[in-house]
Amino acid sequence: MRRVLLIGATSAIAQEVGRLYAARQSHLYLVGRTAEKLEAVAADCRVRGAVIVGVSVWDARWWEKATELIEQARQALGMLEVVLIAHGNLPRQDELWHAPQQMVEQFHVNATSVIALLSALVPVMEQQRRGVIGVISSVAGERGRAQMAVYGAGKAAVTAFCAGVRGYLHPFGVRVITIKPGYVDTPMTAHLPKNFLFASPQRVARRIYQALEKGYPDILYVPWWWRFIMAGVRLIPEPLFKRIRI
Ligand SMILES: NC(=O)c1ccc[n+]([C@@H]2O[C@H](COP(=O)([O-])OP(=O)(O)OC[C@H]3O[C@@H](n4cnc5c(N)ncnc54)[C@H](OP(=O)(O)O)[C@@H]3O)[C@@H](O)[C@H]2O)c1
Repeated sequence: MRRVLLIGATSAIAQEVGRLYAARQSHLYLVGRTAEKLEAVAADCRVRGAVIVGVSVWDARWWEKATELIEQARQALGMLEVVLIAHGNLPRQDELWHAPQQMVEQFHVNATSVIALLSALVPVMEQQRRGVIGVISSVAGERGRAQMAVYGAGKAAVTAFCAGVRGYLHPFGVRVITIKPGYVDTPMTAHLPKNFLFASPQRVARRIYQALEKGYPDILYVPWWWRFIMAGVRLIPEPLFKRIRI
């Protein structure tokens, strides 16, 4: 049994992680922005063996309320043994170039909210002196590109902040894992043509679960070969990269 907080619990990847913890009769606190979807996920986890200790409707645009949310979850679970931050939004970048306010809102959904949640988690985890936090960032955060400018910028901020929090919490025995999936076949990518690079949410969730439960790694590329693809992508000189449409 584990005490698990899932934020963005209705995401296809988080749902699969929730099922793996449900099979261990874990206590789950589920957070998502859509009440009906959240209830459906809670019901699914319940039939698979989980005890649902709480459910909160929370929109990432309400990032100022992150401390309140974390406190509610901590009280309901008693202790935050495992935390997974999984929410995120992939906007159509071509619709944002002339909508500066929406551009910034997307940054808040993908980045500011995660920074707010991690900031609220720090004092709790520091006091507990145990636990693991997994944060789903993305390989998209490794290099800015025209088609994913604000999504990539948000994930880059998340990756950098996670590294800082990992360093701060390390002496307290708390692990922070930055999860960097490549393409995953979920509702987020439903509009994209599929190819061999796409992984299933089940495969990605299994790796996330293993990483949360084992003592390594700090940075999880999933599937693993994205580490090498991105090493290659980072080597492309910028004068050439800015001309490539990938
Ligand atoms: N799919 C990929 O190729 C891929 C690749 C790299 C990283 N990721 C990351 O993986 C994570 C999970 O995504 P997924 O692939 O599982 O996609 P998904 O099934 O579409 O899940 C996206 C989740 O984010 C939630 N969300 C979106 N906007 C929100 C907001 N304003 N407030 C609160 N929640 C919000 C959605 O809530 P609703 O269910 O209510 O819509 C949903 O739970 C995300 O962080 C994503 O950026 C995905």
